[in-house]
Amino acid sequence: MYNLLKGKKGIIFGALDNQSIAWKVAERAHEEGATFVLTNAPIALRMGQINALADKTGSEIIAADATSMEDIENLVDKSMEILGGKIDFVLHSIGMSINVRKELHYTDSNYDFTHKGFDISALSFHRVMNVLFNKKAMNNWGSIVALTYMAAQRVFPDYNDMADNKAYLESVARSFGYFFGRDYKVRVNTISQSPTPTTAGSGVKGFEGFLNYAEKMSPLGNATALECADYTITMFSDLTKKVTLQNLFHDGGFSNMGISDTVMDEFNGNK
Ligand SMILES: NC(=O)c1ccc[n+]([C@@H]2O[C@H](COP(=O)([O-])OP(=O)(O)OC[C@H]3O[C@@H](n4cnc5c(N)ncnc54)[C@H](O)[C@@H]3O)[C@@H](O)[C@H]2O)c1
Repeated sequence: MYNLLKGKKGIIFGALDNQSIAWKVAERAHEEGATFVLTNAPIALRMGQINALADKTGSEIIAADATSMEDIENLVDKSMEILGGKIDFVLHSIGMSINVRKELHYTDSNYDFTHKGFDISALSFHRVMNVLFNKKAMNNWGSIVALTYMAAQRVFPDYNDMADNKAYLESVARSFGYFFGRDYKVRVNTISQSPTPTTAGSGVKGFEGFLNYAEKMSPLGNATALECADYTITMFSDLTKKVTLQNLFHDGGFSNMGISDTVMDEFNGNK
């Protein structure tokens, strides 16, 4: 390990179980010398798995529903108390679509579900940055990262309304990132990750096929959750101080591919 985050303090949203990308980020951040608070929705905390992560990383857990301003304000105030000062890094690793869960087709969305999913998956990023900004909670040269997926740019039919949520999320990173950069020298980026077998990922219809297709299309293969964590750590470290307002693809090259030999062979009948 490289002590890349030595002395840095953070807040990590979204570690549900040991498959979660946020879980791996927490493990790697701990290995790199950071101290942080773990947070998730109260209902997710009731599952209890996060306690093992907290023990392992010496972290405290604070419940916060990412759709509640009161919860986020409490989270940020308490985190600064626990960590003994302002925050250097924040990971937003939150996603949920009720339309996906209920297997409603995109062309026949339930708009109450759409609103709720948007609030959780997209607007929550604005809320979190709003609270951090107005409480002046970030240290200069801090870093804020949210996780996203390429369905924000291209059509993946079964990704459903999460595609629209991710498009908003990425836009907010740029819009809020401007003010964060201007006033606090804080950078804001999204990392666009390969399909990854987690609770949220596996909820997407046809996920296995999706995963295999991306694997065969990407010259480097799909990026794993641990590899995503490694990349996220670099974004929290001082090695990436001038990277901001970016959507950073972390996908083994998938996003720039048209066709690969492996996929072409299947269409030519040369399995
Ligand atoms: N798994 C993939 O294929 C993939 C690919 C690209 C991007 N992502 C993104 O990575 C992020 C993390 O997802 P993951 O794959 O690790 O799955 P995950 O299911 O482990 O994590 C999703 C998290 O969102 C949390 N959450 C849901 N509702 C919440 C609320 N109201 N308040 C606070 N937290 C809430 C869940 O409790 C959970 O911890 C998401 O933004 C997801 O869209 C995932």
